[in-house]
Amino acid sequence: MKIEQIYTKCLAQATYYIESEGEAAVIDPLRETDHYLEIAEKNGAKIKYIFETHFHADFVSGHLDLAKKSGATIVYGPTSEADFDFHQGKDGEIFKVGKISFELLHTPGHTMESSCFLLRDENGKEVALFSGDTLFIGDVGRPDLAQRVFSDLTQDKLAGHMFDSLRNKIMPLADDIIVYPGHGAGSACGKNMSKETSDTLGNQKKVNYALNPELTKEEFIKELTTGLTPSPAYFPNNAVMNRKEFTGFNEVLKKNLKPLSVDEFETLSNESDVLVLDTRHQNDFVKGFVPNSYFIGVQGDFAPWVGTVIEDINQKIIFIAEPGREEEVITRLSRIGYDNVLGYLNGSFEAWKNAGNPIDTMESIDINEFENQYQSNPEMDILDVRRAGEFESEHIVSAKNLPVDYIHKNLHEADADKTWFVHCAGGYRSVIFASIAKSKGYKNLINVEGGFGKIKTSEVFPKTEFVCPTTML
Ligand SMILES: [Fe+2]
Repeated sequence: MKIEQIYTKCLAQATYYIESEGEAAVIDPLRETDHYLEIAEKNGAKIKYIFETHFHADFVSGHLDLAKKSGATIVYGPTSEADFDFHQGKDGEIFKVGKISFELLHTPGHTMESSCFLLRDENGKEVALFSGDTLFIGDVGRPDLAQRVFSDLTQDKLAGHMFDSLRNKIMPLADDIIVYPGHGAGSACGKNMSKETSDTLGNQKKVNYALNPELTKEEFIKELTTGLTPSPAYFPNNAVMNRKEFTGFNEVLKKNLKPLSVDEFETLSNESDVLVLDTRHQNDFVKGFVPNSYFIGVQGDFAPWVGTVIEDINQKIIFIAEPGREEEVITRLSRIGYDNVLGYLNGSFEAWKNAGNPIDTMESIDINEFENQYQSNPEMDILDVRRAGEFESEHIVSAKNLPVDYIHKNLHEADADKTWFVHCAGGYRSVIFASIAKSKGYKNLINVEGGFGKIKTSEVFPKTEFVCPTTML
C-alpha cells in the first residue's frame, strides 16, 4: 500500500493518491490531473475511484478530467447532486482498491454531503481517515459555506450536524488512526488550522478544541460560528462550478497560454472590460508597471488573492509574468476557475518599457525611511491592510484598518486626497491594496516594505498592547 499526500501551498490544500496491488484511488484531485495519471502509469496501476469529500468551494476539482482519462468512478457522499455522472455513495459503503478498502462515513457539517473515507489495510485494520473538510489538524470545517448554495440551511444547523458527525462517526475511532485532512494552515475553509498536514486521531482528541468531549452541543455551535470572517468572493462560484461540466485543464492551458505583442497587449489593456494583472515580485512591480494594473505576485498566495480581489470569475485578464512563469500563472488561475485569460505580454514588462509605453510607479519605502517620516510627522495617515484579527492582536496606535480582503467595499473609507502609508504583515498584501487603490484614482499611496514584521521591531511607533486571543472555550 502506498499513500501519497500532494500538498498545494497556495491553496493550503491536500489531495491524495492511494495505491494497492495495481489499483488506486485519488481523493479530492486538483484541476490539473497529469500528476495522478503519471504516478499510476509509472506504477502500472489503474485509478479505480475518485473520492470527493464534498463539493469544494475553494478550488476547481479535477474529478471530471481524471474520470475521463482514467475511466475511474467519481464518488460523492449521500445527498450529493451534480450535472454529471457519478456514484452517490451511502453511509457505510465499502469500496475495494486492490487489497485495501475505503469505508464512506457520512459526516455532514461543513456541507451536507461531506464525507470522510476510512482506509483499512490488507489485514482489515483501520489505519487512516481522509477527513476532507470535516476534521482538520487543530480545527474543523467552517459551517457557513453551503448555506450560500442552499437557502434552507443555516450555519447553526450545519454546526449542529458537525457536532453529531464528530461525536458519532469520528471520535469513536481508534487513537492510532492517521488523520489526513483536506486543508492546512492558511485555508479559508476553517478558522484556526495547524501547520501540520497530518496527525494521529489520538493526538487530535487531546489538542483539537472541536473534539473536546466536555463541550455541549450549544457550546460547540457557538464556538464554531463565532469569529467567522466572510469567505473569499470566489467560493460560491467554485462551489457551483464543481457541480457542473466544465472545460478540462489541458484545453484551458492551450487556449490561454498565448503570447501577446506589446501592441496587442496595449490595445487590449485599453478595453474597459479587460484587467491587466501583474504577477511579478512586488519589488519589481513598484519600480514600474502598466498603468491601472493589479499586482498579485505569483510567488505569494496567488490564487486566494486573485479569488478575493478579482470579483468576477469570468473577468477578461491579460497578464505580465516573469519570463518562464507564464504557464504557472495560468495553472494557478485555472485552479480557482479564472479561465478567461486572453494572453500574456511577450517579453514581460521589459518589452513594454523598451517600446516607450507609459509606465506608472509606486513609492515604496523601507522601515528606516518610514521611521524618519513618522518622526517628522507623527500625524501621518497609516493604513494597515491586514485582517481584522491580525490588526486586533497588535497595531500602530494611529493606524486605520482596511483589510485588503474587502477592498472593493471599504476603500471609500480612506480619503483619496490624503497621503497614506500602507502596510500589511510582510509587504505583499500592501502592494495588492495600493495597486488596486491606484487604479481607482488614489494617487498618494506609499508602500511600507516588510510591513508589520519590521514595524514590530521598531521603537519609534507607539503600538497597542498585545492581548493573547482566546480561541478555546
Ligand atoms: Fe471545503
